[in-house]
Amino acid sequence: MSTRIGVLVSGSGRGSNLQAILDGCEAGTIDGRVAVVVGTKADAPALQRAERAEVPVVVVSPRCFTTDEAYGAELLHQFERFRVDLVCLAGYMRILPAAVVRAYRNRVMNIHPALLPAFGGKGMYGHYVHEAVLESGAKYSGCTVHFVDEQYDTGPIIVQRVVPVHDDDNAELLASRILEQEHQAYVEAIKLFSEDRLRVDGRRVRVIPDPVAGN
Ligand code: GRF
Repeated sequence: MSTRIGVLVSGSGRGSNLQAILDGCEAGTIDGRVAVVVGTKADAPALQRAERAEVPVVVVSPRCFTTDEAYGAELLHQFERFRVDLVCLAGYMRILPAAVVRAYRNRVMNIHPALLPAFGGKGMYGHYVHEAVLESGAKYSGCTVHFVDEQYDTGPIIVQRVVPVHDDDNAELLASRILEQEHQAYVEAIKLFSEDRLRVDGRRVRVIPDPVAGN
């Protein structure tokens, strides 16, 4: 069954991961389609990408709600309205309201631009992540696609890609090399989900071998 994907983006998200997901669906790599893109602000470039792809866009601004519960209820309402099977966070900077995590347990993914469980958590986003990696002297970084739980960057890991840190790297160069891998990793994780090949067992996510390719 074709997977109906809801993508959630924050603020002024540029939407390159959203674009990779749209392209992955268009190319048939992902057995699914983006059913709705939900943004927190109307003027995000990510939302323009969605409109260009003729995907419905909804703006749900957390500021318009007095409680996190009410904000979560509206998100859930939108995901249900568009019959979303899988929620993909793509540059979403907030903790997802608990009711959404509960209703979509192991059906919400996030992409993080480092190799979790290192360099994650509150405040670890954008250039802060890459600066922390460079500062640490780590020789490798990368990206992680994981299921979302109640905290920042702690849910079960689905796919990781490793990217070497070069001696002459700065945060910007490292970020752009990692971003290329993010796009591939996110499409790979969603493809596996769309083929019903992911099994969550505690903190581990096992991938069921592809019956056709034998891998
Ligand atoms: C990416 O670096 C992703 O890892 C992080 O937010 C950024 C979103 O970039 N969660 P884009 O909007 O998809 O280009």
